[in-house]
Amino acid sequence: MIRPDPAKLADGWTHLLGAGYQRVARPVLFTRDPEQIHEAMIAGLERSPRVFDRVLRSTVAGERSPVTLAGVRFPGRVGLAAGLDKDGRAAHAWAGFGFGFAELGTVTPVAQPGNDRPRLFRLPESKAIINRMGFNNSGSGALAARLRRAGVHRGNQALGLAVGISLGKNKVTPNERAIDDYRAALADVVDVADYVAINVSSPNTPGLRALQTGRDLEALVGAVVRAAHEHDPARPLPVFVKLAPDLDPDDLAAAVSAADLAGAAALVATNTTLARDGLAASDRATGEQAGGLSGAPLSARALAVVEQVVARTQLPVVGVGGLMDEGDVRRMFAAGAQLVQLYTGFIYSGPALVRSANRVSKEH
Ligand code: FNR
Repeated sequence: MIRPDPAKLADGWTHLLGAGYQRVARPVLFTRDPEQIHEAMIAGLERSPRVFDRVLRSTVAGERSPVTLAGVRFPGRVGLAAGLDKDGRAAHAWAGFGFGFAELGTVTPVAQPGNDRPRLFRLPESKAIINRMGFNNSGSGALAARLRRAGVHRGNQALGLAVGISLGKNKVTPNERAIDDYRAALADVVDVADYVAINVSSPNTPGLRALQTGRDLEALVGAVVRAAHEHDPARPLPVFVKLAPDLDPDDLAAAVSAADLAGAAALVATNTTLARDGLAASDRATGEQAGGLSGAPLSARALAVVEQVVARTQLPVVGVGGLMDEGDVRRMFAAGAQLVQLYTGFIYSGPALVRSANRVSKEH
């Protein structure tokens, strides 16, 4: 009797899932305004019944490879990158897509509307996105309350994954008082997060990236690490730091050692880029929009940054930026990233990419 090979069957299913998304779902989704589609997707997932999560988990998710890093148990090494589910409205659904962790946020201590629309642009030929959302979010308190209502408590994996929360400062807060914002946001989420990520690398909050320079970063990270320690001296919440891809090598080295010295538990590299290299001719006009570029044009740059970061620190590194297919994910793990995150690749390739990224994660 011929027995079907389960690995081949799973491969075939991943392929079908990918083709279905790219040939059927994506063309429909991409006819609409990107932010409207994004909102509809989050709202649909938010309202979806819990049985839908279970169906997703048994059909779409596939197998994950667990790991413990920075004291956090990650049920899988492929995560949802920050910014896709800023307010955690769809948090219960992400494990169903195969994610082992989700970085919710970026949230700020006070809710804010973000920049004027339009602020989100697709560059389809380049497999890229430009955004200048500007931390539109309902506030760190609202996110924490929503997670508490969902039964989330630090370490309990109530949603089937580890919960990271990305913290930012409000637009109206001057950089001199940024530390207060990060501490206030931390205080709100400290009991519902498995880790927090200090976001000093968004290009869309004026002046934010200035906080990445060695001295300022050390002061900021040190203050947040101390605050985490005060909240729970026995088991302080791990503090990750997310870096931009646009730092020159010396500034990157300084940022890495500042974060390390100040007690960061891991680094996330990278956020979106201000560069505009590698755009298809048909996307050049859209490429002039202000904001951060993500997706395929960022792949090589993000990979190079991760290589440099890995060479400079023993801290675990979360690799993110332009992971669009299995090959990108494999190169990111090979460069030394211990976890990866997806945003734009998930939009262009759909849930099949999470499945194949999970499979690749087991090779390393
Ligand atoms: C982002 N990203 C992001 N990052 C962050 O730390 N906080 C945030 O609020 C956001 N918001 C956000 C919105 C949108 C529309 C996009 C496309 C991206 C950056 C994201 O997490 C990731 O670092 C980059 O997009 C690079 O990864 P990809 O998209 O190339 O996989």
